[in-house]
Formats: sequence, C-alpha cells, structure tokens
Amino acid sequence: MPKRNGAWRHAIVVLHYQFETKMNTKQAIAIIGATGNMGAAIARSLAKGNYRLLLKGNDKNALDALSADIKKEHPLADLEAITCSAEASWEADIIILAVPFQAEKEIVEKIREVANQKIVISIANPLNETFDGLITSPLTSAAEELQNLLPNAKVVKAFNTTFAADFATPVIDGKQADAFIAGNDEDAMETVKELVSTAGFNPIIAGDLSTSRTLEAMQLLLIRLGMKYNYNWLAGWKILHH
Ligand SMILES: NC(=O)c1ccc[n+]([C@@H]2O[C@H](COP(=O)([O-])OP(=O)(O)OC[C@H]3O[C@@H](n4cnc5c(N)ncnc54)[C@H](OP(=O)(O)O)[C@@H]3O)[C@@H](O)[C@H]2O)c1
Repeated sequence: MPKRNGAWRHAIVVLHYQFETKMNTKQAIAIIGATGNMGAAIARSLAKGNYRLLLKGNDKNALDALSADIKKEHPLADLEAITCSAEASWEADIIILAVPFQAEKEIVEKIREVANQKIVISIANPLNETFDGLITSPLTSAAEELQNLLPNAKVVKAFNTTFAADFATPVIDGKQADAFIAGNDEDAMETVKELVSTAGFNPIIAGDLSTSRTLEAMQLLLIRLGMKYNYNWLAGWKILHH
C-alpha cells in the first residue's frame, strides 16, 4: 500500500511539473524590422500578451530605445534585442517579417533553414513607388511568393490590412477594426488569430493563402482612399453583419 501511495505521489508530481511547464511556456515571436513603423507597432501591442518578443533590427541603439519605451508601459514584457535575423528566427516559434516586400528575398536567404515548420507571418503590401498599384502579378501575392521562397514554413497573411497607427487605436469611430488572416494551415491560422486578438483587432480567417491577393489589393484601395479623403493613416476595415 505505501508503495502504491508513493507511485501516485510521483505521478501527481510529474503531472504538476508538466502542467507548470506548459503554463510557463511562452511562444517566442521574432519581429524582423522591429524598429520600423509596423514592427514597432506590433511589438508594442504584443508586449501586453504572454509572449517572448525577439526584436530584430540593424540599429542596436534604436532597439534598446524601443525596448525601454515598451518596458515603461509593460514592465513585465519579455523582450530581447537582436541584430541578426537568423539568430532571432532560430529562437522563435513565430517569425513576423515587418520589412518591405522587396527586402524579403534577401532575409529569406538568411533564415530559410531556421524557419522550417515555423509560422512566418507576411504583413507586406507589395506597393509600387507611386502607391497606385501592386508590383506582384494578379495571379499571385506577396504572401504566396514568400511561401514559394520558404516551402517548409507555414506562411500566414496577417496585419496587412491594418495601418501602423491603428495598433494604438484599434477601435476607430467606436468600432473594433477587423484584421484578416489567410493561410493554408488551419492550426497556424488559429495561432495567428490569438496574436491578432492580443493586438486588439477582431480577427477574421478569410481563406487560404491565395486570399492574400484580395487582402493586399484591399489595402491598396484603403491607402488610395486614405490619400484622397485624408484619413491620416488611421483607418481600417469592418465587415458589418448580423
Ligand atoms: N506602415 C503601415 O501602416 C503598413 C500597414 C500594413 C502593412 N505594412 C507592411 O509592413 C512592412 C513594413 O512597413 P513599414 O511601414 O513598417 O516600413 P518601415 O517603417 O520602413 O520599416 C521597415 C523595416 O524593415 C527593415 N528592413 C528594411 N530592409 C531590410 C533588409 N534588407 N533586411 C532586414 N531588415 C530590413 C528596416 O529595419 P532595419 O533598418 O533595422 O533593418 C525597417 O525598420 C511592409 O511590407 C509594408 O507593406 C505597412
């Protein structure tokens, strides 16, 4: 009998340990381009979640300044400043490419091996220089091109229909802005949905990765409208429904 008690106690200790470990496991998110408009906005908004944020930028001083600024608002934020894309991506569960579309190919060369099987979030809108067209063919999208470059990663489109300024004000004119998600891996999209919620937006899973063609064109339209009607870069999409 005492022996059985000991076995039970051991099993309970193991279960408790596994539970604690799971509860303490944070997802690590690399933000490549963390000091840019979108990278910094995403970092600030995700700092309120239970994530480890690996902030990648070229300028260590700018990264340290961003980290210090985020810590003022979120003293418990788990942040690390890193100046190497491969190192940040190696440590990450999720990689967010907050860089211009044109820079993605170069970055992919650095992170390809460490991005295998990981979620890579494409936020890019492949705009032309005059902001009146996309430089990708209508038969593809920035997200699909990224997936082609990273065939073993789970590319998910997200955050491309939200402006950087929206992250500080995701409720615009009394309505929570929608943020669309597209991808080919259901579990990856569910994970990204949580990130989008943490950032303060209403997540909508819109379709498979080819839906990114529409999402990227939607943001081109919003940019055009914003310039025409002076939305001051604070605008978003909202699906009205019952
Ligand atoms: N701005 C918006 O409201 C908005 C909205 C939706 C989607 N987006 C998309 O978000 C992405 C970023 O836009 P942004 O407005 O944040 O641009 P940004 O302010 O110019 O920041 C881009 C960042 O990318 C990094 N970068 C550039 N070239 C790089 C390279 N070759 N290797 C590594 N890092 C590089 C730069 O960081 P370092 O100098 O430290 O390398 C820079 O901080 C774009 O794809 C854009 O289409 C933007």
